[in-house]
Amino acid sequence: MFNSPLLKLTRGYRLQIAGLVVLGLLVTTTYVAQALLVAQVLTTILNGQDWGGVMVPLVLILVLIAVRAGLVWLREVASKTMVENIKAAVRQEVFAHLLDLGPGYMQGNRTGEVQPVLVDKIEALDGYLASYLPQVFITLLGSLAIGVYLLTIDWLVGLVVFAFMPVVLLSQNWSKLVQGEKGRAVFAAFGSLKGDFIDNIQGMTTLKAFGASQQQGEFLKKKSHRLYKATISNLTVSTWGSSIMGLAISGGTALVIGIGALHLAAGQLALSQLMIILFLSSEAFRPVTDLARYWHASYSAAAAYDSIQEFMGTAPDVNPGIAPVVPQSLPGQPEISFKQVRFSYQGGHRTALQNLSFEVGPGETVALVGRSGAGKSTVVSLLLRFFDPQSGEITLGGKSIKDYDLATLRSMLTVVAQDTYLFYGTIADNLRMAKPDATQSELETAARAANAHDFIMARSEGYNTMIGERGAKLSGGERQRLAIARALLKNAPVLILDEATSSVDGASEAAIQQALERLIAGRTTILIAHRLSTVIKADRIVVLENGAAVETGRHSELLDRRNAYARLVAAQQEMV
Ligand SMILES: Nc1ncnc2c1ncn2[C@@H]1O[C@H](COP(=O)(O)OP(=O)(O)O)[C@@H](O)[C@H]1O
Ligand SMILES: [Mg+2]
Repeated sequence: MFNSPLLKLTRGYRLQIAGLVVLGLLVTTTYVAQALLVAQVLTTILNGQDWGGVMVPLVLILVLIAVRAGLVWLREVASKTMVENIKAAVRQEVFAHLLDLGPGYMQGNRTGEVQPVLVDKIEALDGYLASYLPQVFITLLGSLAIGVYLLTIDWLVGLVVFAFMPVVLLSQNWSKLVQGEKGRAVFAAFGSLKGDFIDNIQGMTTLKAFGASQQQGEFLKKKSHRLYKATISNLTVSTWGSSIMGLAISGGTALVIGIGALHLAAGQLALSQLMIILFLSSEAFRPVTDLARYWHASYSAAAAYDSIQEFMGTAPDVNPGIAPVVPQSLPGQPEISFKQVRFSYQGGHRTALQNLSFEVGPGETVALVGRSGAGKSTVVSLLLRFFDPQSGEITLGGKSIKDYDLATLRSMLTVVAQDTYLFYGTIADNLRMAKPDATQSELETAARAANAHDFIMARSEGYNTMIGERGAKLSGGERQRLAIARALLKNAPVLILDEATSSVDGASEAAIQQALERLIAGRTTILIAHRLSTVIKADRIVVLENGAAVETGRHSELLDRRNAYARLVAAQQEMV
């Protein structure tokens, strides 16, 4: 009945919950008073007394209805306020944990599965906190009080009411046992369906392009059916629970009225008392039916909270707390080295990097080339410490990257990747992400160097043009030049270009090349390029195959060797 992990959430809110219980009991009181007044009115009429005596109770009934409306409203406001506060706190914790887990976690887990934890499951806590928990107390106290009152009128009637209450509660307890499991099943099915839907919407273009939508449709249909089955069996159980409960309530009420009628005939009860029994016995069960209405939601809440806790229990891939003793960032152009680095992804079927060693001297540009899946982007993820290698060491400026604290480490690195994420906001906002206090003239200097100033000014709003998901559309080349401007603003000593030009059309390529050269100048650079034409100028080229460095040298040396690099070049020339 009291789900203990959920109960912990109410710490600090016990007084508010007590307030909600009091409000709930006041609502129950208005029902009881109304029942008593109706009984009085009916008794008066049945006794053939003067209509004048009915006016006052009738007016009082109207007043009670109005008062109850006010109380219900107050209860709504109070419970909403409390619950939103609790949910905000949970949301903050969950979000902080998500940030701790970092992009490494998001790479392995689909957005579709994380999103429900952040939104829907936290919303589902409402059912328990706002409705169910206060109602448990209201039911216990309210029904108890009414039962005791009935006991004083007619002890047998009171006993019957009390005898039926546990029946009602047990009928619910029975369904609880089954439903706890079922509720979880529904959420599990729902979560995985949602993940697939989001995947399919995000991958719509690819799906269509490969004519795979039919097949995926079948797959989604199966998933939906699983959700449907879980929901139905959940409903079946909860419907059974409420039917048995309904039966118990009407059975109890009927029995009570029968006994009352017999006692009236035997002269043990006055008509007015029978009337009170008639109306109050159903009021005694009202809090219980209310509880039943919230029962379902409380189990969804418990199931939702389970998965929130499961998420909170996942450990980050890297532990930033171990040794941030050297937090200072390095001046100048630090060198980078990978020494015998071995890494495999959790759940990955093969080793992503095998004993990889290479060095990038101060201010050098080293290119990483290799087929897709060779491990190039993994090098970047490790350098950023999205993951830690299983063995080997990565150093920056002569120190292990584990000796920097995460924020410092990342502040020293700038990544320009294949696709640039632009947030909804103005162009200036997006640029300032790299340097929040940048002045307008700093923005313009960076944008000019990135060959972005002209296309920005070509828009009527200039730097205040809204872009991002819901904003103006920018071409791939324009996005990339904004990314370069952002990187120039950040002005970090180490630059990583991960296929930065591969999604760019021919027309803007020259402008981007020029911008990139300005960005590379004076920085230690790792250049990952799809098009080998862009790596010709690199100080050194490292050829990766299956996560291992198989060749290292300058472009012309490597061509002369007629080995892995030469093969890559030849393969690419065939494609042109
Ligand atoms: N998040 C991930 N989880 C599991 N395996 C991954 C993940 N990212 C990449 N891999 C695998 O690691 C290997 C190297 O990938 P990656 O570094 O992205 O290659 P590249 O950038 O050279 O195309 C590939 O086999 C790829 O399938
Ligand atoms: Mg890659």
